Amino acid sequence: MSSTALLDGRSAIVTGAGSGVGRASALRFAEEGARVVCADIDLGSAKETVGLIEAAGGTAVAVACDVSQEDDVAAAVAAAVESFGRLDIMFNNAGIPTPRLGAGFTDHTVADFDRLVSVNLRGVFLGSRQAVLRFREQGDGGVIVNTGSVAGLVSWGGSVYGATKAGVHQLTRAVAIEGAQYGIRANAICPAGMPATNFMAAGGMPSSPELLEATSRQVGASHPLGRPITAEDCAEAAVFLASDRAANITGVLLPIDGGYVAR
Ligand SMILES: NC(=O)c1ccc[n+]([C@@H]2O[C@H](COP(=O)([O-])OP(=O)(O)OC[C@H]3O[C@@H](n4cnc5c(N)ncnc54)[C@H](O)[C@@H]3O)[C@@H](O)[C@H]2O)c1
Repeated sequence: MSSTALLDGRSAIVTGAGSGVGRASALRFAEEGARVVCADIDLGSAKETVGLIEAAGGTAVAVACDVSQEDDVAAAVAAAVESFGRLDIMFNNAGIPTPRLGAGFTDHTVADFDRLVSVNLRGVFLGSRQAVLRFREQGDGGVIVNTGSVAGLVSWGGSVYGATKAGVHQLTRAVAIEGAQYGIRANAICPAGMPATNFMAAGGMPSSPELLEATSRQVGASHPLGRPITAEDCAEAAVFLASDRAANITGVLLPIDGGYVAR
């Protein structure tokens, strides 16, 4: 831990902590002194993240959590309280992609729609609701960070997926405004496409290392800054928004996109 640790002593939950943005963020949170509940529907991958944190000298516990299930989300909050005494930071990051990458609007079935809404939007609703209830009980504020997407800011990246992320953005702003009176901040990071996480493979994209590298380069080149967006870029923004350095920042939708949206 550095001497100027940004999250010293904080108790945090990161959902989707078994991979990609969630894993990178859990590691950075711990590096900045937070004690982390690594929550994921895949308990094995969450345990691997805990192993990485512990190997680096940090403190973390793994919980199995399907963010679309209220009992699971409540249990993750309970785990934070039981393990670390309280909850300070809720990072609602877990999300799923368009089921068949490239699927057009009418290719989506009702089941596809329900699943996307259930994980991407209901998951953030449940995580935010449980966190706000806990923060209000503790009485001294708290921080929510949500993972939205560039696909929720512009029409890009899947119609239904984008709509769930636009919902996450609006929920973020609404919680920020309602929560302000209790000292609760809520912000979202909005990444552009990151082929290097497991996300696109989860959406059916073939994931050979060569293809991933080529896609990464191609997507990165479409950004004004010209570089691929990484899970670590997102983790850095999440640490900042979760920390006191962002004490007067709430309701913000922060693109992590190399300038894509600004163009
Ligand atoms: N990768 C991208 O191109 C991209 C772009 C913009 C936004 N995002 C968003 O970033 C977030 C993280 O994506 P990533 O790229 O790290 O993906 P990833 O697939 O590498 O990681 C997602 C993690 O979430 C977990 N998860 C899936 N469903 C869950 C559920 N119901 N409950 C709990 N955990 C669940 C998975 O097991 C996995 O560990 C998502 O919200 C995604 O929508 C990703």
